[in-house]
Amino acid sequence: MRLTALSWAMLASASWTNAAKQPNFVFVLTDDQDYEMKSLDYMPLLQKYLANEGTSYERHYCTVAICCPSRVNLWTGQAAHNTNVTDLHPPYGGYPKFVEGGFNENWLPVWLQQLGYNTYYTGKLFNAHTVNNYDDPPVNGFNGSDFLLDPYTYEYFNPHMTRNGAQPVSYKGKYSPDVVANKAYGFLDDASKDPDRPFFIGIAPIAPHSNMRSVPSLERGTPFYAERHAHLFKEEKIPRTKNFNPKEPSGVGWIRDLPVLNDTLIDYHDEFYRARLRALQSVDELVEEVVKRLESKGLLDNTYIIYTADNGYHISQHRLPPGKECSFEEDIHVPLIVRGPGVPAGHIANVVSSHTDLTPTILRLAGKARPDLDGSPIPLTKKALAKPDSGEHVNVEFWGRAIPEGKYGWIGDDFLPGFGHVGARNNTYKALRVAAEEYSFLYTVWCTGDKEFYDMKRDPNQLDNLFEEKNFHLAEEFSIAGRPFKQIHDRIDSLLLVLKSCKGKSCHSPWSVLHPDDAAGSLKDALRPKFDAFYKEQPKVSFSSCQLGYLKSEEGPQDANVWDNFQYAKPGGKQVPFQYEGHWSWWT
Ligand SMILES: *[C@@H]1O[C@H](CO)[C@@H](O)[C@H](O)[C@H]1NC(C)=O
Ligand SMILES: *[C@@H]1O[C@H](CO)[C@@H](O)[C@H](O)[C@H]1NC(C)=O
Ligand SMILES: *[C@@H]1O[C@H](CO)[C@@H](O)[C@H](O)[C@H]1NC(C)=O
Ligand SMILES: *[C@@H]1O[C@H](CO)[C@@H](O)[C@H](O)[C@H]1NC(C)=O
Repeated sequence: MRLTALSWAMLASASWTNAAKQPNFVFVLTDDQDYEMKSLDYMPLLQKYLANEGTSYERHYCTVAICCPSRVNLWTGQAAHNTNVTDLHPPYGGYPKFVEGGFNENWLPVWLQQLGYNTYYTGKLFNAHTVNNYDDPPVNGFNGSDFLLDPYTYEYFNPHMTRNGAQPVSYKGKYSPDVVANKAYGFLDDASKDPDRPFFIGIAPIAPHSNMRSVPSLERGTPFYAERHAHLFKEEKIPRTKNFNPKEPSGVGWIRDLPVLNDTLIDYHDEFYRARLRALQSVDELVEEVVKRLESKGLLDNTYIIYTADNGYHISQHRLPPGKECSFEEDIHVPLIVRGPGVPAGHIANVVSSHTDLTPTILRLAGKARPDLDGSPIPLTKKALAKPDSGEHVNVEFWGRAIPEGKYGWIGDDFLPGFGHVGARNNTYKALRVAAEEYSFLYTVWCTGDKEFYDMKRDPNQLDNLFEEKNFHLAEEFSIAGRPFKQIHDRIDSLLLVLKSCKGKSCHSPWSVLHPDDAAGSLKDALRPKFDAFYKEQPKVSFSSCQLGYLKSEEGPQDANVWDNFQYAKPGGKQVPFQYEGHWSWWT
């Protein structure tokens, strides 16, 4: 097609207008920062510059409670079961698996560059991104980058970094979160020198991750903090919630076998907690500095600042040593605060969201919605936040080991030759976190066959598993929309069956997979008695063995039965059993 001078001018001005409106993004991603142990309360500058000036999303979750799989989920907008990056290292995870999956060419920074953005990143990207493979291939998608590299990533005073894919540089003796902060300020300067292009800057300090050293020998301990923060929080202790080192064992599987923590361990865990709070102070200072610099450059009003953590953390809850990888609230519930154009100041949002939603949120703001991704944009404006929210669930998944941290860490009985004790192997599960005004619960199905259900309105600390015999009386009392636990269980298991292998649209509206006629769009709809037989006959979520990765053949039924109005619902009909696709069912 031949373009006239006029249409060229129109095209040019259209793209100019678009570029002028595109907002900037500064994305701060901390490592292992909890929501539940109140770490945000110890960050006064974050409160001042982000929480008071932006919106706190108090029901935000990660979908896979471990660094690398969670980061790949976040930066691709796809569920871990679709990226199949499910571990820290090959064969099931790490940077090489990310590259192998083709994501180095297909993820947020690349998509943002295609939309005209300059993109920058500093800090930790993924695990198994090392001083050996940093350029094999180089990370794709950033105009400027400075990545922390394994095996030094978690050594607070020994960062090794590669700048723009060059030979790694050692910063021995320098405090890693401060090194990363300074590099972030440099990228902010670079970005502001190109006023015609919007920018994205990812800042990923390791705080408050535990300090870990893998060479010459493995050491796992409390996080290290900067000298200037050493005097802080001398008296703080882990909140003594009901699930803190409980007298009765809790959870299922390897968690149930954990012994009560003795005083030596409790003291160590409290110091571990204080060290985390101190390590976060460097991040708190970074937040202030970023806001001030954006302001002095006149960029603050057109920049979204997004603050979150890759996954949560537990210390002593359910008798656990420091760590993550569980489906408990401590591990999956993470901070999310957004400040930016149109985002209400000082607001607390109750919408349920997950890390899968962050890339779709950013892309929509940048000018290109991506409904093919597994997440959906998070509402950001007062108007969007006021809409009654339809989403109430988060799909949570995990494959592989639970790894204890801290010097006393000992869980499970998994040994690796040449490495020693590594943790609990049978930690593969599928979970569903549902949070609404009327009900709030966690449902988990484990590879061992164990099941958990916690009614979090009554039991926010997740101590009374309704599948345990001693809690059957609680199960009898539990109801949603007047329906008993057994009926609820049938519905949520089907929802989990759809979500555990959902993709794109089926992740956004899983009920419409079960009910293509849209007769049931929510848990309450699905609980109607006319669907009882349909849900009873559904294949159930199960595993045939415990694996360390996503091996479909071991993960039970894959497809749900689909509601067929003609087969299942004959108006006025009497209940008569009949066979439908090999299952017994009923006319109603
Ligand atoms: C950033 O990278 C993109 C993609 O390679 C490129 O089109 C753009 O010109 C770069 N920006 C600058 C300032 O070099
Ligand atoms: C507490 O348990 C730890 C780990 O098992 C052990 O090393 C320590 O000696 C115990 N302390 C006391 C006071 O029993
Ligand atoms: C792990 O689960 C498998 C079943 O998949 C079981 O055979 C094995 O005994 C379990 N191991 C432990 C330590 O619980
Ligand atoms: C996930 O990756 C592993 C390791 O490469 C592979 O064995 C497995 O089949 C993959 N799973 C799926 C569902 O593609």
